[in-house]
Amino acid sequence: MTITVCPTPEAFDRTAAWRIIAQMLSKPSSVIGLSTGQTTMGMHRIVSDIFSGHPFDVSRITLFNVDELTNLPRSYAGSCYTMIRTQLADALGIPDERFLMPPTESDDFALEARLWEERLAAAGGADLQMLGIGLNGHIGINQPGTPFESETWVSPMDPGFEARVRRETQVPPGTELGGLTRGIRNIMHTRRIILIAKGAHKADIVARAIRGPVTTDIPASVVQLHPDCEILLDAAAASMI
Ligand code: GLP
Repeated sequence: MTITVCPTPEAFDRTAAWRIIAQMLSKPSSVIGLSTGQTTMGMHRIVSDIFSGHPFDVSRITLFNVDELTNLPRSYAGSCYTMIRTQLADALGIPDERFLMPPTESDDFALEARLWEERLAAAGGADLQMLGIGLNGHIGINQPGTPFESETWVSPMDPGFEARVRRETQVPPGTELGGLTRGIRNIMHTRRIILIAKGAHKADIVARAIRGPVTTDIPASVVQLHPDCEILLDAAAASMI
């Protein structure tokens, strides 16, 4: 595990963007896992900007996001599909055949989870995962207590986040919302992981995840066991390690 600390949030965004671009250039058939949220918006914008100014070959690049919301329309601005499409995939011109995402609506999410993993495997398996970390240490949508051997599944959402999604989507009250997320085992099978965090609000959980014991109480702590993992932080997120 290596730790890289960037002096400012802007330097973090640039460094993370270049990690993504370097992966694309060094292996033009890369399968790259992204994360949505505040942490990744800046890096996605920079990758898009660099690509539009200096296009490079992405004709064999496959993208996916580590998780997706369920039981709401894919066109909802907060769906992971739509966020990654608008933030990055459209700018790179990546078609849906190489943007591997499960549907947001289905009668059988267990089947969708299996099909998603099969498509990722058929594309060659994930080369890189840019992995966000939640304030409670979640990765993807795998909340504390999720077994490390979990396979891609529908996890309950964090209640605060769920309340916001409900307000924004106006889904009927009876509709169960969840998150289809790659399991911890699937995430760990990615060839290379970059755990990313910025901001002082992440400092405590980052320190506990990478300096504390490996425990299912903090799902992100599992990355300590990964053979090729970088922890990429801005100075604020690194302030307690
Ligand atoms: C959500 C996403 C995760 C992401 C996390 C951190 O839970 N499902 O994939 O890593 O938020 O988000 P933020 O970067 O906004 O803190």
